[in-house]
Amino acid sequence: MNEQTNTIQPIDRGAQSPRRGLLLRALIRAYVRVRIWMIQLRAPGLRFGCRPRVDFSRVRFNTWPGEIIFGNDCGVYDGQIEGVLHVGDNVNLISPCRIGGSSLYKVTIGSGTWVAPNAYIVPTTHAYKRRDLTISQQGTKGGDIIIGEDCWIGINVVISPGVTIGKGAVIGANSVVTKDIPEYAIAVGAPAKVIGCRE
Ligand SMILES: CC(C)(COP(=O)(O)OP(=O)(O)OC[C@H]1O[C@@H](n2cnc3c(N)ncnc32)[C@H](O)[C@@H]1OP(=O)(O)O)[C@@H](O)C(=O)NCCC(=O)NCCS
Repeated sequence: MNEQTNTIQPIDRGAQSPRRGLLLRALIRAYVRVRIWMIQLRAPGLRFGCRPRVDFSRVRFNTWPGEIIFGNDCGVYDGQIEGVLHVGDNVNLISPCRIGGSSLYKVTIGSGTWVAPNAYIVPTTHAYKRRDLTISQQGTKGGDIIIGEDCWIGINVVISPGVTIGKGAVIGANSVVTKDIPEYAIAVGAPAKVIGCRE
């Protein structure tokens, strides 16, 4: 009898697990892609680049009548995202965030930017100045919001309509950004004031 037939061969895990890992990753990517296609049936203006990370049970996309375009390697984990939004690569929108909400005004978020939980980045607000009309009768006003590349938007930040946050800026927790913030500035408070600059 051939000696080899009775020998239990050790499993070469080193050879199997990388292949299994790759297969698992491919399956997860295919699943995410299918879920995105399903969402796109309801929100046709939604587009994701490669390797999106999306928590479909928590994020609500509404593109009508706008468009929501994400670059590659973006993560969206919770919140409501609507209107016209253009996002670069490697952007993370963490936990509940409210972004967009207007088809007239656009929100742009540059590559590499991190947005911490509870961000409110909406390019419209209520018009309220007149006394002879109720606030609900005065409609809304707004302006595009631009957040540059490599920014860090802290937790609970509100960004007002029409504001531009320069490349590399850091916005501290609980800030309300009502005016433009220069590149690489560190701004905190309500209203946000520049307290320093990244080195
Ligand atoms: C803005 C921030 C990055 C600054 O951090 P830092 O460089 O370590 O600065 P410091 O803590 O030394 O604070 C510098 C000054 O700014 C003040 N300050 C810092 N953050 C502030 C904020 N969010 N609101 C108001 N003032 C703030 C400090 O009180 C301090 O004032 P002082 O000089 O009068 O004492 C940090 O405070 C912050 O807000 N981080 C965001 C955290 C967050 O949202 N995490 C979510 C996970 S992604």
